[in-house]
Amino acid sequence: MRKSNILTIVSIALSVFIFASAWTQEDMENIDNSIFDNPQRSSSMFNHEEHNEAAGLESCIECHHVYEDGVRLEDEDSTDFACAECHEKESAGSIPGLMKAYHLNCKGCHKASDAGPIMCGECHKKE
Ligand code: HEC
Ligand code: HEC
Ligand code: HEC
Ligand code: HEC
Repeated sequence: MRKSNILTIVSIALSVFIFASAWTQEDMENIDNSIFDNPQRSSSMFNHEEHNEAAGLESCIECHHVYEDGVRLEDEDSTDFACAECHEKESAGSIPGLMKAYHLNCKGCHKASDAGPIMCGECHKKE
């Protein structure tokens, strides 16, 4: 391979890396569903910033929690972790599996607060 080609590849790789690391929750409009093999539904709508503002959610631990011995810690959050880092595909003891964790968290609050979507197609839009 010519040296200039190698340089091009390196600089493309580098710009992808820079782009990826500049991405934050502020740009989020959907939940990343790529962790599910063969997703059955479109990825759920979730505009992180707009949603949390409209819903008046100030505390990150409503969703990004940390538990110790089954008790949620009120002064620690897990904003640096994906849900999938703790929630496996299948439930394990008191830790719900990933899909269940999302549904309990999202639909659970929508039901409890009588606001926000509960029907499948309101979150998983038809593509
Ligand atoms: C209504 C639930 C909810 C609330 C409240 C919430 N988040 Fe999130 N946040 C999410 C979900 C869901 C994701 C996607 C997680 C995943 O893909 O595993 C996410 C992702 C993130 C990410 C990771 C983005 C990336 O690079 O992948 C960061 C950082 C983050 N949130 C920060 C915050 C902060 C800071 C707060 C409080 C000011 C907050 N969040 C409040 C649900 C919430
Ligand atoms: C650092 C690990 C960790 C991360 C990250 C995490 N969880 Fe959890 N989650 C747990 C544990 C442990 C439990 C079980 C608590 C218990 O023993 O009752 C739990 C329980 C839950 C429950 C059931 C109890 C409740 O609070 O309603 C839901 C729903 C849930 N998680 C959703 C989520 C979502 C959605 C995300 C991502 C935004 C997430 N979790 C991120 C560790 C984590
Ligand atoms: C702690 C409460 C709470 C949690 C957790 C929560 N929501 Fe909501 N959500 C709300 C409320 C309240 C509204 C209505 C806000 C309004 O009046 O516009 C809403 C509205 C929405 C809407 C419609 C408005 C919009 O922003 O497009 C969608 C879609 C939505 N939620 C998706 C989700 C998803 C996906 C999750 C889980 C990752 C989630 N929500 C978790 C409280 C919550
Ligand atoms: C409040 C929003 C919300 C509602 C309502 C909702 N889901 Fe989900 N669902 C999610 C989120 C968030 C995920 C995590 C990954 C994603 O975005 O697809 C998920 C994941 C899934 C998955 C696993 C990933 C896949 O595509 O295979 C399935 C299956 C699923 N939902 C089916 C349903 C069905 C069926 C209904 C109606 C009975 C429903 N969902 C209602 C938010 C929602």
